[in-house]
Amino acid sequence: MTHKICLLPGDGIGPEVLQAAVPAIEAAAKRCGHTLETSTALIGGAAIDATSSPLPEETVAACRGAEAVYLAAVGGPKWDDLPPERRPEKGLMGIRKALGVFANLRPAALSPALAGACMLAPRTAAKGLDLVVVRELTGDIYFGTPRGERTVDGKRESFNTMVYNEEEIARIAKIAFDLARLRRRKVCSVDKSNVLETSRLWRQVVIEVHRDYEDVELTHMYVDNAAMQLVRDPSALDVILTGNIFGDILSDEAAAITGSLGMLPSASLSGDGPGLFEPIHGSAPYLAGKDIANPLGTILSGAMLLRLGLRLGQAATLVEKAVDAALVDGLRTKDILEPGRTDSIGCARMGQEVLARVESLPMPA
Ligand code: IPM
Ligand code: MG
Repeated sequence: MTHKICLLPGDGIGPEVLQAAVPAIEAAAKRCGHTLETSTALIGGAAIDATSSPLPEETVAACRGAEAVYLAAVGGPKWDDLPPERRPEKGLMGIRKALGVFANLRPAALSPALAGACMLAPRTAAKGLDLVVVRELTGDIYFGTPRGERTVDGKRESFNTMVYNEEEIARIAKIAFDLARLRRRKVCSVDKSNVLETSRLWRQVVIEVHRDYEDVELTHMYVDNAAMQLVRDPSALDVILTGNIFGDILSDEAAAITGSLGMLPSASLSGDGPGLFEPIHGSAPYLAGKDIANPLGTILSGAMLLRLGLRLGQAATLVEKAVDAALVDGLRTKDILEPGRTDSIGCARMGQEVLARVESLPMPA
């Protein structure tokens, strides 16, 4: 079967990591008898330079017409002075909204091969870490209106609106509980209900939805406490269910403690229509063009694309095994190199090494 994939390379290290990743993903699909038909569209700063919009209409149409969207990263200093409406990040927020991908899954696990890069105290790391942040992605203070800037009594002032309705909360809560059933059956809902109205509704609705999931353990945690627990004892966490801004922050933390932001994938799903698959890291402009970025987060996002976007679970597992094998063989980009080692490899080479393993490993069951 042929599957249409829309590639959005974006800015900074985006094009390099995607270029390093795509051949491995194509090869894995091919080994299962499937062909990926890729097209490339503009987003972010690259789109601003070419069309003056961070999300051209053609890009939205190309994404809607695809079975899955494979995105790298957007943004960079070149566009930092633009007004919020015209910044590259607006393109990313815009495509998430346009595709309605409200459910952002961000798994973080400790890979034994990367124990040396893990930032946790050894006694904490020894307990293990295998969690998923389920981040609501199309609401909250990132999208709420009114928002803007004004002058009041001669002083500049700016404001945003944190808002969630019960439907938005219920649908993401269901995703988290369903996912927990495939894992260790534990959901920790993160909010700030000691201060925020939005969070009080969040907690109430999560409790209501939980009535249909009595086999899943539900706990609640304030976001400040959750940030602390992530470094104190992340082994206790399974599924973290949270809103857009808290999920943005906690998922970077969850990623960093596993070793590197460069390793972590994500999937953003709508329930119908194409999903959006992207690494959780940004465009890292200071690394761009130097062939030193880590493509593994993008490659692992490609595995999620195969599994959740195209239902090619076997191909997805093959990619994950190939990444593991490369790590077990000691291959490291700079960000995950153990202290004392100097033999890191580049972005393109890491892509080739994973590709070679995708082509040669035995097919998983
Ligand atoms: C992420 C990023 C984006 C977000 C930025 C680039 C808009 O930080 O995917 O986590 O905040 O969602
Ligand atoms: Mg983020």
